[in-house]
Amino acid sequence: MPAKKKKQPSSVTGLGVDLAEVSRVRRLAASPRFLKRVFTPGELAYAGASKNKYERLAARFAVKEAVIKALDDTSLPLSGIEVENTASGRPRVSVKGRPGLRLLVSISHTAAYACAAVIAFE
Ligand SMILES: CC(C)(COP(=O)(O)OP(=O)(O)OC[C@H]1O[C@@H](n2cnc3c(N)ncnc32)[C@H](O)[C@@H]1OP(=O)(O)O)[C@@H](O)C(=O)NCCC(=O)NCCS
Repeated sequence: MPAKKKKQPSSVTGLGVDLAEVSRVRRLAASPRFLKRVFTPGELAYAGASKNKYERLAARFAVKEAVIKALDDTSLPLSGIEVENTASGRPRVSVKGRPGLRLLVSISHTAAYACAAVIAFE
């Protein structure tokens, strides 16, 4: 009987946090060009369905910046980083074209600020 393959422990390869001002994102979001450059249709739909639309957009903006920090890669296009929520509301983040990438994300927001923390691991 072949030896059972031991599960390798995951190692953390990066950590990023970001804090976004809701009023700033609200101002920027007046531009359709900004919205298109930064957010995916799914993110716009999720935020638009809520009375906290700008808090949620600011949170997603913070996630994108936190992913860039966690991966140390400023060349990533913001709209290629996507936040989705499970049925329970838990956020997940993925990067277009990087299916193997493993990221953990957590989000919090108030009327004034949104913050996000992202851990990258392999
Ligand atoms: C889910 C919960 C922890 C969110 O906390 P909150 O202080 O209300 O709101 P925050 O701004 O800190 O967090 C909101 C973000 O939490 C994340 N979130 C929501 N549900 C989640 C879950 N099940 N797991 C992980 N993250 C979750 C989402 O990313 C959400 O932002 P988004 O909708 O823009 O993506 C909270 O609503 C909850 O259910 N708490 C349980 C205890 C409770 O009921 N306390 C109140 C007693 S009076």
